[in-house]
Amino acid sequence: MSELTRKAEKLDAADELAAKRAEFVLDDVVYLDGNSLGALPAAVPGRVEDVVRRQWGELRIRSWTEGGWWTAPERIGDRIAPLVGAAAGQVVVGDSTSVNVFKALVGAVRLARQADGGGLGRDEIVVDATTFPTDGYLAGSAARMTGCTLRPVPPSEVTDALGDRTAAVLLNHVDYRTGRLHDLPSLTAAVHAAGAYVVWDLCHSAGALPVGLDEHGVDLAVGCTYKYLNGGPGAPAFLYVRADLQDRFDSPLPGWNSHAEPFGMRAEYEPAAGAVRGRVGTPDILSMLALEAALEVWDGVTIDAVRAKSLALTDFFLECVEEYVPEGRVECVTPRAHGERGSQVALRCPDAGDVMERLIERGVVGDFRRPDVLRFGFTPLYVGFADVERAARVLAEELA
Ligand SMILES: Cc1ncc(COP(=O)(O)O)c(C=O)c1O
Repeated sequence: MSELTRKAEKLDAADELAAKRAEFVLDDVVYLDGNSLGALPAAVPGRVEDVVRRQWGELRIRSWTEGGWWTAPERIGDRIAPLVGAAAGQVVVGDSTSVNVFKALVGAVRLARQADGGGLGRDEIVVDATTFPTDGYLAGSAARMTGCTLRPVPPSEVTDALGDRTAAVLLNHVDYRTGRLHDLPSLTAAVHAAGAYVVWDLCHSAGALPVGLDEHGVDLAVGCTYKYLNGGPGAPAFLYVRADLQDRFDSPLPGWNSHAEPFGMRAEYEPAAGAVRGRVGTPDILSMLALEAALEVWDGVTIDAVRAKSLALTDFFLECVEEYVPEGRVECVTPRAHGERGSQVALRCPDAGDVMERLIERGVVGDFRRPDVLRFGFTPLYVGFADVERAARVLAEELA
């Protein structure tokens, strides 16, 4: 038994989250792709069966009221809220992340202009130039719609790009490719100092690390629920609008579900108060209630405990890679500093696509991001230290 195998055993024995793994449907594959699609929580299939057979099949239309379908978006939003550091009443679940990026960003430009007395002086949207593509595309469209210029800038240059023309800024908490964690508190403060509004994309941090939305005065945020929140493929996303901004939040997608009186069937739109204002149309109940069941794995778990284990897992993976992988064979593009690391490790190597195929064949599942990045996501609720050691060992064998 190697020293690292022994270390993994010790770390697993001391792991206070170890028992959580049994709440997921897993096999002997080392699953390091939870930053793309979280594993299936064991409670989900039974719940979906109940939703389909009993709630839909037997109660039918009554489920909208008696079964709590109508209020599911806010109820499930309130279940996610503590995981992202938000008090109740500010998070609503529904639509995709992409759609919520659009709502939040156009909403942010409108907030900035209202704050400036309705003028069009604020005519720039700043976006992370290295962002996940959907955010960039939507920021471009939001800019065209609002008469703004789009300014894509690398995250390290965001602060310098801000000024009295900045209306809104769209940033990623964790970079999807490198796993770099950006400094949400100081960037939020810088955007506010410029008189602008910030939208944070939390896809790679929600459920992986503390976000502190309320604590840091974030304006708006969006995130997906199919990665670290394990909601399932295409699970609905979430939208956070800070409580004191909700009355002024003017959604560019004002559907009947966000109307103050949705069943009044009125011709004029009157927005509802609160998080409901972020809704659009009829929610996707099957996915939404699968997500609600998935979130039960968080009972009794704090996001701080998850973060502590996440850092221990990524530290240990880096240690194993350093020990096992021939020097110079891969370049780690994820920062070493804890304050700059999300819950994934990205390694660059020229043949990354082939390497990942071989890893998957050998039961170590990460993913490949073009052109040359091997991504390994660490979900503390179901990944253990022995998994980490095995992944690094198999990786080293394939790279040798
Ligand atoms: C940072 C980020 N934003 C947005 C998305 C995708 O959004 P959607 O759920 O609309 O596909 C992803 C998907 O991986 C992502 O990583």
